[in-house]
Amino acid sequence: MKLIGPFKQIVTLAKLPLRGKLSDDQLEIINDGGLLIKDGKIETADSFQNLKEQFPNIEIENIEGEQICLPAFTDSHTHICFGGNRANDFAMRNAGKTYLEIAENGGGIWSSVQHTRLASEEELLKTTLERINFLVSLGITTVEIKSGYGLDVENELKMLRVIKKAQAFTKATLITTCLSAHLKPRDFEGSSEAYLQYVLDEILPKVKEENLAKRVDIFIEKSAFLPEESKAFLLKAKEFGFEITVHADQFTSGSSRIAVEVGAKSADHLEATIDEDIEFLAKSETVATALPGASLGLGEKFTPARKILDAGGILAIASDWNPGSAPMGNLITQASILATFEKLSTAEVLAGITFRSAFALGLEDRGTLEKGKKADFVTFETDNFQNVLYQQGSLRAETVYIDGEKQSS
Ligand code: NIG
Ligand code: FE
Repeated sequence: MKLIGPFKQIVTLAKLPLRGKLSDDQLEIINDGGLLIKDGKIETADSFQNLKEQFPNIEIENIEGEQICLPAFTDSHTHICFGGNRANDFAMRNAGKTYLEIAENGGGIWSSVQHTRLASEEELLKTTLERINFLVSLGITTVEIKSGYGLDVENELKMLRVIKKAQAFTKATLITTCLSAHLKPRDFEGSSEAYLQYVLDEILPKVKEENLAKRVDIFIEKSAFLPEESKAFLLKAKEFGFEITVHADQFTSGSSRIAVEVGAKSADHLEATIDEDIEFLAKSETVATALPGASLGLGEKFTPARKILDAGGILAIASDWNPGSAPMGNLITQASILATFEKLSTAEVLAGITFRSAFALGLEDRGTLEKGKKADFVTFETDNFQNVLYQQGSLRAETVYIDGEKQSS
């Protein structure tokens, strides 16, 4: 056992409900607090002085200066395994070019597919790890990563193997998702329905065989896969034993309903979700994930996070870090900006990037600082936890702990 502290404040996020709105007076804040760690887990969070008196001979890891402590963050939606970049898409989009014009000029998802197909496993591993390390430096210790820029057996498996390999080089927890149903690749001869069948017949059995992912995602949208074919695909993937998550309602509404109907763990995006569907989603077990980084990258409206919370939904916030729609990768900046535009309390934002986003990944062992939880936490050099969101990501994490161990920065 060891005692870490004293922290000016520990915000435990303990005893908060999984769903619905939160006010900041629900936050448990321990002033001059200490964390007792046992076998990589939180034993207790309490006053540092009390803990010291209670355990006079305990090993102490002393915290210098004024620091606050939060549970480490979970980014439950990223596409950080990719080749190339799409800076030109970004510039063209900002200069007023349409989706079609950008695609015709060699941009769009298909351009990332071409670059990712050309990249070697070594190159992809290197850049993916660089991005993981950046996320860890922000205090994110659980990261979901999707395939979806390979779009054939060889390249989807290449991506998934790279993500699996990356786990050997980081202490962060990586959760892999198979997004072979991102788009029908241009070189696939046949309908989008036939492509989904190809994913079911040729890709998913191999994903299972090599234990590369336990989750399946799909992009339901006019430019990708249509609702009915998507629903049939998801039901088959589920039957096959995969957990489901959906890129839903990004530009047009309707697909969050499908996510709920198939029992998806999460429906992500939701920028275009209509009020009736917000109610439907908010009453379900499916987590609603806002991706403010995509709104900022595309200049689209934000996910109606306020309405989702008021309707009692489980709201997570994730970065969607990808080379096209969300190139920033800074979840703290994005979550803070979402709060400003959607009028979210600090408690709602912190819950959305900790235990609620972990729940979206099926992880209920982390995201709060209470007995038995994984001892992943992050410190910031400040005397007030509100400064983390107030400074919109420019206050960088001081130290990141995984399983109670300090990570070198
Ligand atoms: O989540 N919406 C679909 N997929 C990604 C974008 C991927 C890309 O543009 O490369 C997203 O925003
Ligand atoms: Fe995405």
